[in-house]
Amino acid sequence: MSKVLEDITRIMRNTYGKDIYPFEESFLRKTLEKRLSQTSLDNYSAYSDYLSENSTEADALYRSLTISFSEFFRNPLTFALIEQLIIPVLVDEKVKSGRPEIRVWSAACATGQEPYSVAILLDEQLTARGSAVSYRIFATDFSGPDLAVARKGVYDFGAVRNLRVKHLHDYFSAWNEFHLIATRIRAHVDFSRYDLLDEHSVSPPASIFGDFDLVILSNLLFYYKPEMREIILDKAYRSLSPNGYLVTGEAERDMITGRKGLRAVAPPAAIFQKTGRGR
Ligand SMILES: C[S@@+](CC[C@H](N)C(=O)[O-])C[C@H]1O[C@@H](n2cnc3c(N)ncnc32)[C@H](O)[C@@H]1O
Repeated sequence: MSKVLEDITRIMRNTYGKDIYPFEESFLRKTLEKRLSQTSLDNYSAYSDYLSENSTEADALYRSLTISFSEFFRNPLTFALIEQLIIPVLVDEKVKSGRPEIRVWSAACATGQEPYSVAILLDEQLTARGSAVSYRIFATDFSGPDLAVARKGVYDFGAVRNLRVKHLHDYFSAWNEFHLIATRIRAHVDFSRYDLLDEHSVSPPASIFGDFDLVILSNLLFYYKPEMREIILDKAYRSLSPNGYLVTGEAERDMITGRKGLRAVAPPAAIFQKTGRGR
């Protein structure tokens, strides 16, 4: 790590209590370049001085590192396969096993579009089949403000433009120029704060025991150093039930391919199935 990065990491930790060490180095550099240009400072030495005296800049830097962009049905191929391949299998298995609940963990849910997308697909199929199987989605993130948006479930027109007309009609109600997610969907999604780098737990305490049929860990691994990715992936793996499914962002697929205990379900989508029983 260069001297500049070391200095900035130290200032963030010692002055503001924020640990930016886990982030991948090239991502850190790119983000710092952007902050340098936005603050119109000439060089990193001037930026370090500015940062050490300016908590607003520390917040801005940290916000840029924890990008919370999300979309409904982001990665369309992956969601099509969740809909057509994974959910029917999970429902059949639950019916056979007599365990009536599908358990999902959306592990970096940002402003809620990801867990609500899965909930819409589950609700649609369970309703169509008249199934007694139920579902619970544990949606976590370490960002309190993002979780507050997610819990409200209110989205503007731009946010819902990817949705099928049927989904928009059946699962949202219009509220001024906003769209509000249906109460029956929200009732199945449990939002809680959870840091994926937390050393004291394997899965979110709100879920009590993990054992998820589906874990979605998408569009955050690439921001982290390889050793941090390992910690996060190990947690996801250990939280999966035997034969459970892990979904990542499509750009993160290569980080999982070939990993012991996981098989690619439908390349080129980023969907993997646990093959071992390990925790
Ligand atoms: C780019 S968003 C991805 C949102 C969603 N998974 C998707 O694919 O659309 C990344 C999210 O990861 C969250 N995040 C990053 N590091 C985290 C960590 N260590 N623990 C929990 N959440 C984290 C951020 O707060 C942000 O909301």
